[in-house]
Amino acid sequence: MSVQHDPVQRADFDQFMVPNYAPAAFVPVRGQGSRVWDQTGRELIDFAGGIAVNVLGHCHPALVGALTEQANTLWHISNVFTNEPALRLAHKLVDATFADRVFFCNSGAEANEAAFKLARRVAHDKFGPQKCEIIAATNSFHGRTLFTVSVGGQPKYSDGFGPKIEGITHVPYNDLDALKAAISDKTCAVVLEPIQGEGGVLPAEQAYLEGARKLCDEHNALLVFDEVQTGMGRSGELFAYMHYGVTPDILSSAKSLGGGFPIGAMLTTNELAKHLAVGTHGTTYGGNPLACAVGEAVIDVVNTKAVLDGVKAKHRQFTSRLQAIGEQYGIFSEVRGLGLLLGCVLSEVWKGKAKAVLDAAAAEGVLVLQASPDVVRFAPSLVVEDADITEGLDRFERAVAKLVQG
Ligand SMILES: Cc1ncc(COP(=O)(O)O)c(C=O)c1O
Repeated sequence: MSVQHDPVQRADFDQFMVPNYAPAAFVPVRGQGSRVWDQTGRELIDFAGGIAVNVLGHCHPALVGALTEQANTLWHISNVFTNEPALRLAHKLVDATFADRVFFCNSGAEANEAAFKLARRVAHDKFGPQKCEIIAATNSFHGRTLFTVSVGGQPKYSDGFGPKIEGITHVPYNDLDALKAAISDKTCAVVLEPIQGEGGVLPAEQAYLEGARKLCDEHNALLVFDEVQTGMGRSGELFAYMHYGVTPDILSSAKSLGGGFPIGAMLTTNELAKHLAVGTHGTTYGGNPLACAVGEAVIDVVNTKAVLDGVKAKHRQFTSRLQAIGEQYGIFSEVRGLGLLLGCVLSEVWKGKAKAVLDAAAAEGVLVLQASPDVVRFAPSLVVEDADITEGLDRFERAVAKLVQG
């Protein structure tokens, strides 16, 4: 039974919504696989994936099935009780990773908030209140709550909201000497994205993550990996830490974890988890049965050899074509990233113009993202069809050609 809605248009955004976003001029209304359609019926190929979220594209049958079944069973029960989907998903995450324990929440920022609070709590309990300093990377992004913007290394997101959370130091990413100089026995955690996502799709160097692990161990500090953007298969491994072979103490996940349904998770060890005893932290919706049922379907599909090998193969398809486009039109100086998180670094003359590339791409019928004004980002579905890759990149090339021709 379809419900009749009042007609709405893009202009309603400007009238009724807080102006903290600047959405595109068109309104998507429907998605299937890697294609979406707007209000006028125009079809677009989606390489943006809802900002690295729609890990299995739009309306994947396994996810629709899990959500529909759960919607007819139990929506919400709160953490006064536990529920079967949450327990099943937690068990699967534990089986698939370094972690022994899972805390569920609703977003990446909340997963990081829990991670940072846990790191401080552990240090407080074991070493005392002076061990509360967090080291994070310049240009990093960890979410928009006050704690997460304070840890994030982009002052444009944290300035202007009054006093920030104290005790946070930022060091240049991929600079082990800077981390070495900053870390001390007052450090409770080093927080890193294995690939800086919003900061420009910049992968960590192998020696950097290995060195960070060693420095943390030497200073009794915890290594926190923010895998909100890199996790759940995006790198070609279930989590990017597996690609590097460097294991964190705490890991945050969100975005792809729910494939489009809001969910976040913080993963950690038994030893650390015990510091979040009853009453120390919580959330009403975290571990919601609907979200966890979808998350379970996501991990069942994504954590398979077929999908993860597919990501690596599709990575090669994307990068070789994007490199060719970059060279032919002189628009990219580098194509970087792992798996299906790719960043095309704009060449000197195109620096700062990522938004113009996005707009030109959308006009040709393909959705891409930016990651800073200097990088065009691709975060498609991990199961994007080969035909969609070819057609989408043809459209993208036409957009670049038009842009370059002025
Ligand atoms: C690495 C990273 N951490 C945290 C977040 C915040 O996630 P959310 O927007 O779900 O709060 C993001 C979102 O872009 C992210 O890329």
